[in-house]
Amino acid sequence: DGRTVQFYSVEIAPFTTQVYPNLGLAHLVGYNGTAPGATFYVPKGTETIIRYLNNGEQSAAVHLHGSYTHSVWDGWASDEMQVGQWKDYYYPNSESARAIWYHDHADGHTASDAYYGQAGVYIIYDPAEDALGLPSGKYDVPLALSDKIYQSNGDLAAPSNNPINFFGDTIEVNGQPWPYMAVEPRKYRLRFVDMSLSRPYNLYFADPSGNWIPFQVIASDSGLFGGPVSTNDLTISMGERYEVVIDFSSYAGKNITLGNNMQQTQITEYTNTDKVMRFVVGNTVSDSSNNGAVPSTLNGNIQWPAARTTVDHTFNFQMGGESTWTINGVDFSDANNRILARPPQGTVELWELHHTGGPAVHPVHIHLVNMQVISRTGGSRGVLPYEAAGLKDVVLLEPGETVRVLAFYGPWNGVYMFHCHNLVHEDNTMMDAFNTT
Ligand code: C2O
Ligand code: CU
Ligand code: CU
Repeated sequence: DGRTVQFYSVEIAPFTTQVYPNLGLAHLVGYNGTAPGATFYVPKGTETIIRYLNNGEQSAAVHLHGSYTHSVWDGWASDEMQVGQWKDYYYPNSESARAIWYHDHADGHTASDAYYGQAGVYIIYDPAEDALGLPSGKYDVPLALSDKIYQSNGDLAAPSNNPINFFGDTIEVNGQPWPYMAVEPRKYRLRFVDMSLSRPYNLYFADPSGNWIPFQVIASDSGLFGGPVSTNDLTISMGERYEVVIDFSSYAGKNITLGNNMQQTQITEYTNTDKVMRFVVGNTVSDSSNNGAVPSTLNGNIQWPAARTTVDHTFNFQMGGESTWTINGVDFSDANNRILARPPQGTVELWELHHTGGPAVHPVHIHLVNMQVISRTGGSRGVLPYEAAGLKDVVLLEPGETVRVLAFYGPWNGVYMFHCHNLVHEDNTMMDAFNTT
């Protein structure tokens, strides 16, 4: 009947790998023996069925973050595969083209599972976008950011049980600490995903003299913007995706640093977390196609939600007891009370998100939703131009801030999670649910 279905199988299993030369092996638990897992490239509208077999060390649930997925395959935290079990997850991939990601969502140990490798990039692409001439093929590169701590024997140190934050002292890109990437002196499309447990970044590109290089942001969580947004720096928090076009053509033979300028009082500063990776720019361009100016119109099809001024729900992201976090005082383990909204499917609601105190930041993620960030008050920054340029599924809430979003629910019924994407907060119950009816 014209449908195309692709089948994949993915094993969750422990493996070891040498991250640091001359040191011992690091013990990881990833997808098919890599961490992060392999990047999926799926044409829009091609359905996928992925069989996950859990041969890992504890229970697992898999969530495809940024997708419209029926609730039975959405990775509900307690819908877990025990060790030795498998589950087939079905994805329609009917969303607009976008870079999304898949990661563990198991109840109470999502953070450590993501830390040890259960996360990966998943790209839905639309051949209709080829006409835009954006950098493609080897010039289109997903870059997954995370932060880890290594012991002197080369193995990872476990994330602590501190429920406030986990900050590694080593920034990794695609599982490699402070890597180099050989690039050509031309334009690249880089797709950033922040897979860190607690660390947001403020990214910049710097030339060898330390001058920041302007670049264009072309897409976020839900795909291409209407048009590119020029900037010198990019704030990306846990769970968010931003795609940029950077032009290395003036830097042949030079090294360009991708740095992190995030200044936050609660981040215990470590040496080197200001550096992310380096691009080693060569002298020749092997393929000059798709190297022109980024078109001023990228996407005329953004499904902006209908305007609404009545606040449907107000959610307070706050401390619970000594070491727990809640949304409106309700903890995910409170199964009788954790459904905090019952929106009709396919409708739009205005949600107001409040940060109620303390230094920790809360990137708020809503499943099954594309949202428009309407306002940010109480702090100093307002809505950033690249936050307003497309639809999102995560929005960062910093101390003192109130953010309003128009949440546009996907077309299915069911119970879905929403939560803080500081995975340490999420595991310590800063997660609740809504039921589309
Ligand atoms: Cu990326 Cu519910 O998570
Ligand atoms: Cu999600
Ligand atoms: Cu939080």
